[in-house]
Amino acid sequence: MNIKDLTAVVTGGASGLGYASAAALTQAGAKVVLLDVGQLRVDRAAAKIGCLGFECDVRDDQRVAEIVAQVGEELGCVRINVNCAGVAGGMLLVDKNGPVDIDSYRRVIEINLIGTVSLMTRCAAQMMQADALNDDGERGVVINTSSIAAFEGMIGQGAYAASKGAIASLCLPVAREFAARGVRVMAIAPGLFETPIMDQIPEKVVDSMLAKTHFPTRMGRPEEFADAVLAICRNPMFNGTTVRLDGAVRLEAR
Ligand SMILES: NC(=O)c1ccc[n+]([C@@H]2O[C@H](COP(=O)([O-])OP(=O)(O)OC[C@H]3O[C@@H](n4cnc5c(N)ncnc54)[C@H](O)[C@@H]3O)[C@@H](O)[C@H]2O)c1
Repeated sequence: MNIKDLTAVVTGGASGLGYASAAALTQAGAKVVLLDVGQLRVDRAAAKIGCLGFECDVRDDQRVAEIVAQVGEELGCVRINVNCAGVAGGMLLVDKNGPVDIDSYRRVIEINLIGTVSLMTRCAAQMMQADALNDDGERGVVINTSSIAAFEGMIGQGAYAASKGAIASLCLPVAREFAARGVRVMAIAPGLFETPIMDQIPEKVVDSMLAKTHFPTRMGRPEEFADAVLAICRNPMFNGTTVRLDGAVRLEAR
């Protein structure tokens, strides 16, 4: 699809991969709305990029529904939805004090998985009501953020890997479900990217992951994730799969 003038909703847009995606989509001529928590962070990021921003916790399905409806009315039907809102949520499932506090586990699943599903279903439903954009009958695209932890999670990623594994595994069935209505569904599984989420991961774990990254031997840059987002938007053959963006790193247990 031609990105110019299309409406795009990007979650986690105040920081890291979401911010870079919102900026790149704006640069490519899309009408971008970023969502994130913290009014000040949202306002600052939106002003810096030159796009719109809404304070929104992706766990609040009602608020998500209201924002997506408002965006559709004011900017035109959402055509691109990039979901980057997420937390690292490292935890052992049984530590020296006993089993994990189940609410901590639930929080990771609710933000990383349910929040993504809330956005993608609201945005996709709107895309399906719109006219086709081209002869293929394309109406829109959803790009979710998985992680390489979906495939080889490390110790301490029992919650995070489950949430990201779900993002990877829902991609094909949902792409199949939405296909007849012209909506594509993709996921990107980043390896190690230089963003603030890395502050939540112990330094020695980051060092160990970097040591196993083959080429390039550095962290990914948020702009490189954003480039992948643009490529997926533009190329309609990207559908129903999770693309690893990881410099050939394969995680080990720790
Ligand atoms: N950076 C990496 O190496 C890496 C690797 C694999 C996957 N990811 C995934 O990429 C996505 C983006 O992460 P990032 O690296 O840019 O980190 P980041 O911390 O810079 O960005 C995540 C954003 O999500 C927002 N967020 C968290 N909870 C939210 C909620 N309930 N509602 C709305 N927004 C919320 C945060 O405020 C933040 O702005 C995440 O889903 C993360 O799991 C990142």
